[in-house]
Amino acid sequence: YDYDLLVVGSANADLVIGVERRPGAGETVLGSDLAVHPGGKGANQAVAAARLGARTVLLARVGDDAYGRLLLDSQQAAGVDTVGVLVGGAPTGVALITVDPSGDNSIVVSPGANGRLTPQDVRTAASLFLASRVVSTQLEIPLESVVEVVRNLAPDNRFVLNPSPPRPLPPEVLAACDPLIVNEHEAKVVLGDACVSDRPEDWARLLLAKGPRSVVVTLGAEGALVASSAGVTRVPPVKVDAVDTTGAGDAFTAALAFRLGSGASLADAATYAARVGAAAVTKEGAQVSFPTAEEVDAL
Ligand code: RIB
Ligand code: NA
Repeated sequence: YDYDLLVVGSANADLVIGVERRPGAGETVLGSDLAVHPGGKGANQAVAAARLGARTVLLARVGDDAYGRLLLDSQQAAGVDTVGVLVGGAPTGVALITVDPSGDNSIVVSPGANGRLTPQDVRTAASLFLASRVVSTQLEIPLESVVEVVRNLAPDNRFVLNPSPPRPLPPEVLAACDPLIVNEHEAKVVLGDACVSDRPEDWARLLLAKGPRSVVVTLGAEGALVASSAGVTRVPPVKVDAVDTTGAGDAFTAALAFRLGSGASLADAATYAARVGAAAVTKEGAQVSFPTAEEVDAL
């Protein structure tokens, strides 16, 4: 393969303000100075994988504007091949992010150019699928384009999906996932009416019953669960002081995808990915906080 990982997904400029607490409706609060960082769940995954040493290519769409150039620069600085990054059609996607003193965030995304990454754009990139071991995506691009990703998978591609932000998924997409990676909120949305338990072990089994070959449920400070036909296994958490959790889930997914493509078991890949995600929460920002392989080993 030319690439360990093809990421199909979003690229956003993250406009980040630190706040003591979030405003309610009709309320104004003062926050920190504004920070502008390269982000977006797809672009984040690509940078995270490349930092770890994965040969990575990104299929995405940005605007013909300053934020689009910020995102292209960040990808190229990390060593991601940007041959699949399309430019134009709408302004670059923007994420308005507040981060509170505990490191938790809330995010509003304006998709912009991400919303114009079409099924035709996916079909046009068929050669990238053939050249890649693992294909990874998220849900900040149109769902019909995610369906098209699944339809364009090459016979040897392993497909990894983090359905974020979550919505119900067609059976065709669920059946392709190996694994489907969800946090607690995403698990509930994907399960919908089938969410008949409040135990994460049960969610993992119920999600598997919907068609994926494997499932990972991330549980924040509780670690993660990995599930396949071999059963459900718990992966212990990595304890760190959280500064900014933005993008940590993207780094987890990218690390997991890279390790799986290198032949690791699901449990081993998730154990490594948990360390990558933990390293990412100790620094501000998304892409700018992602560790190299050496930094993960030192953790
Ligand atoms: O997962 C974190 C990302 O979500 C941020 O970088 C922001 O752009 C939103 O897409
Ligand atoms: Na971070």
